[in-house]
Amino acid sequence: MAAFKTLDDLGDVTGKVALVRVDLNLPMKGGSATDVTRVEAVKPTILELSKKGAKVLLLAHFGRPGGQRSSVLSTSMVTGDVEGVLGKELMFIPEVAGPVVEQSIGILRNGDIGLLDNTRFWPGEEANDPNFAQAIAAHGDFFVNDAFSAAHRAHATTEGITHFLPSYAGRAMEAELKALDAALGNPEAPVAAVVGGAKVSTKLAVLENLVGRVQHLIIGGGMANTFLAARGVNVGKSLCEHDLTDQASKIMDTADHAGCTVHLPYDVVVSKEFAANPASLRTCNVHEVAEDEMILDIGASAAEALADVLKTCRTLVWNGPLGAFETEPFDAATMSLARHVAALTQEGSLISVAGGGDTVAALAQAGVTGDVTYISTAGGAFLEWMEGKELPGVAALTANNG
Ligand code: 3PG
Repeated sequence: MAAFKTLDDLGDVTGKVALVRVDLNLPMKGGSATDVTRVEAVKPTILELSKKGAKVLLLAHFGRPGGQRSSVLSTSMVTGDVEGVLGKELMFIPEVAGPVVEQSIGILRNGDIGLLDNTRFWPGEEANDPNFAQAIAAHGDFFVNDAFSAAHRAHATTEGITHFLPSYAGRAMEAELKALDAALGNPEAPVAAVVGGAKVSTKLAVLENLVGRVQHLIIGGGMANTFLAARGVNVGKSLCEHDLTDQASKIMDTADHAGCTVHLPYDVVVSKEFAANPASLRTCNVHEVAEDEMILDIGASAAEALADVLKTCRTLVWNGPLGAFETEPFDAATMSLARHVAALTQEGSLISVAGGGDTVAALAQAGVTGDVTYISTAGGAFLEWMEGKELPGVAALTANNG
């Protein structure tokens, strides 16, 4: 992993202005956040800088306002939620640069925290306009990026600003980068990847990258059907991208050459309708799926076989459920995998890194959120990292480490 500076490299910050990029893109309902995990993640960085006497100015985007002001997408919408998590009052500042920001900094005392408005109200943010980045940077003494989940965007407040200020990874970013490095950068082998979810088309690049890096690739969810079809299995009415079977075959060939075993289920849970506990539910061999049936989960024997594979592995990276886990009983394999992963991690035999909205939800449903090594709440950034792409926000921190 390329080196980056952290808060440990900061000298005395008393009275200095810290520009801190956070991700406050929170899911909202009725004017308040339904999940504040992202705020909890950045809390240690914000409070550490505040305790050390810096004036902390938070930079964040909220939704996709497309370069225009919008009252419902102002970061003032989340001020109350952020204050609740931090246990401290914030000063909301309805700009990101200019005299209003300068005056506000004059009012803030050392240790106080200000929240600037939605960086995406200005077109310069998404265009990564150097003038816009410089105008924001002019208010700060240093920059801290604690928003891994926005690091796949080359925007002014994730990338551009690092060209104008000494830049550091915040505590959440530091933890995320270390965990991801332990999972795929410099992992302890054997490494397994579980990739699930509905469609292969959204994860082709992920699979192509993983086959060259892991020893076991476990494919589940609707996307496994496309791989089964590529092997000549009749998947009946199952969700399947038949136009992608050639790509699936290619991925399996590449895996063979790279010494990566691709695991597909050999028994599956099928039903004629997609509903909770349907009358037509049954488990069968993959070669026995009827024309009018659909595969909705992997079977118990396949789930057990996966658990056995994981017993032989040291590292696991997991993205995507094995079945239609929101509907019972098609959550069975995903829940059993979650519990196995948690148990192996707790025994100390497995380093487990999981990410993506559905996977995080599945771990919570299984009640094992606290029992895996690391959970990434990043969506797009986690997937791009699994694709092996360099994330601009991370690359900018490693470039600015001198
Ligand atoms: C997210 O919610 O995944 C991040 O905040 C990035 O948001 P974006 O997809 O609008 O760039």
